[in-house]
Amino acid sequence: MKFFVDTADIDEIKELAATGLLDGVTTNPSLIAKSGKEFIPLIKEICDVVDGPVSAEVAATDYATMRKEAEVLRKIADHVAVKVPLTPDGLKVCKELSDEGTMVNVTLCFSPAQALLAAKAGAAFISPFVGRLDDISSDGLSLIGDIVTIYDNYPDFHTEVLVASVRSPMHIVESAKMGADVMTGPASVIKQLYNHPLTDKGLAAFVEDWKKTGQSIL
Ligand code: G3P
Repeated sequence: MKFFVDTADIDEIKELAATGLLDGVTTNPSLIAKSGKEFIPLIKEICDVVDGPVSAEVAATDYATMRKEAEVLRKIADHVAVKVPLTPDGLKVCKELSDEGTMVNVTLCFSPAQALLAAKAGAAFISPFVGRLDDISSDGLSLIGDIVTIYDNYPDFHTEVLVASVRSPMHIVESAKMGADVMTGPASVIKQLYNHPLTDKGLAAFVEDWKKTGQSIL
């Protein structure tokens, strides 16, 4: 499973990139607003830090303006994935860009039917929002299972399932069990993956016992 971080905070991105475990970055207009930075230079900066796909989202909702915005975004770097909303206009932009070899991330997916459309439009990534479905007492993870099943039925679909709106380590683990290709989550959730109290307890015991030996490896 590939790990993307869902943030526009360059310091968080640099910190995670240093682990060697970061495969890409996703941003959205809300995250850009939170960063307080200029959008295009910020995406450039992120692209300089991370070699994998960096999602940059269009701001418009009509076809003509989205298409123009996409032209600006895809010129930033070859590894920019233009992010478009799952609407008829968004998928029209997706089909055109994908046919031209640009990666497209189709966002705001909440149903298997929408995911089917995105794959037919040639999306590089479909972003189903598990957390926001859970928020309305729906089952976000069952959507991931449905999309993985549908895509597996059609080997000519090349769209990767990018689990988005991740809120907990279990979202990541359960999605991985279902074979989702990618997850994008906040840095805080990615860091939680390291944690287990038995690791802490076991390590403390090993450190204490090693002291008793009086030895040094170096
Ligand atoms: O970037 C899309 C998605 O990951 C947003 O997540 O937490 O705002 O629902 P969230």
